[in-house]
Amino acid sequence: MFAVASIVGAANVNSMEPMPLDKASIARSDFGKTVSGKPVDLYTLRNTAGSEARIITYGGIVVSLKVPDRKGKFGEVVLGLPSIADYEKQASYLGSLIGRYGNRIAKGQFSIDGKTYQLAKNNGENHLHGGPGGFHTAIWNAAPRMTDAGPSLDLIYTSIDGEEGYPGRLDVKVTYTLTNSNELRVDYAATADKPTVVNLTQHSYFNLAGHGSILKHQLQIRGDKFTPTDAGSIPTGELKSVAGTPLDFREPVEIGKRIDADDEQIRFGKGYDHNWVLDKKSGELSLAAVVVESGTGRKMEVLTTEPGLQFYSGNFLDGSLKGNGGFLYAHRTGFCLEAQHFPDSPNKPQFPSAVLRPGDTYKQTTIYRFSVTSN
Ligand code: GLA
Repeated sequence: MFAVASIVGAANVNSMEPMPLDKASIARSDFGKTVSGKPVDLYTLRNTAGSEARIITYGGIVVSLKVPDRKGKFGEVVLGLPSIADYEKQASYLGSLIGRYGNRIAKGQFSIDGKTYQLAKNNGENHLHGGPGGFHTAIWNAAPRMTDAGPSLDLIYTSIDGEEGYPGRLDVKVTYTLTNSNELRVDYAATADKPTVVNLTQHSYFNLAGHGSILKHQLQIRGDKFTPTDAGSIPTGELKSVAGTPLDFREPVEIGKRIDADDEQIRFGKGYDHNWVLDKKSGELSLAAVVVESGTGRKMEVLTTEPGLQFYSGNFLDGSLKGNGGFLYAHRTGFCLEAQHFPDSPNKPQFPSAVLRPGDTYKQTTIYRFSVTSN
């Protein structure tokens, strides 16, 4: 079980007084109440470089992330919404933590040790992102902390036995750290009291120019293979080479270049919505993807301990969400890079296992590292 460190005594946490720029800080403020009347807190983390992450206790959502561009000007790099009511209404998992199982489980069914479990079918015939009451809707207990690396926020949640149909109680701790070298680091840990499945991830939609189309962003993914899917986005079980397909991002390519290619996988995903098999040794923290936006010069590197990376090109955004700054989030104005175990692993014994047993600790680390390019 994960203890929430007491925030009593961390007096500065409740103050919204401006801090000197070279000082890291954490401030708490109110972010309104959910429809069911639960208060939601907003934590603003500022690092010594002047970058800022704003995170709410509802869904562990990153509502804003501001980092410098080539000229040193700070600007938004994630899609975010102005109010808790907006977050409760949307179904795009904007900026949230995802659990107990990120992405899809076929027919919402899986077995462990011969026992079959049935989860909600919230995506056609399949289960998606932990179900309608997944971790993206939970109110997390928060404990801010100043660390040597930068300001940090521990988020703690206990998922009860049977929640959304999953077996066993799961104690989860996610730590966001905005490091002083402009990384948003996400460390996950979980323990269970019965065998269960776990696949935690983060669903921020990035746009390194702040808003507008993401199609000119250059993307590189360090994966030679991907997991092709059927029409319902369930992996077939095959690991297929990206060579000769629109999913070949081994060298940097503009996202828009082949996004509407005449290709079955692209048709199934309505663009990119696939899991890449990362080139790595199991469990090692290594570079998974690099994104560059040439207008602002912003560069984002994604490092993870996970074996897979879901690249989703915001194909279901349709302009119905009005975001921070009044921008409408139209088709393909944000992209997600979700570090994860492969979709439907509980039904694919050939994929790395997502089973967590009592006595073991699930761990994953993903880092979104920001810098700028000169050209
Ligand atoms: C994931 C899924 C997509 C979609 C988005 C959110 O990336 O794979 O199909 O559900 O989340 O809309």
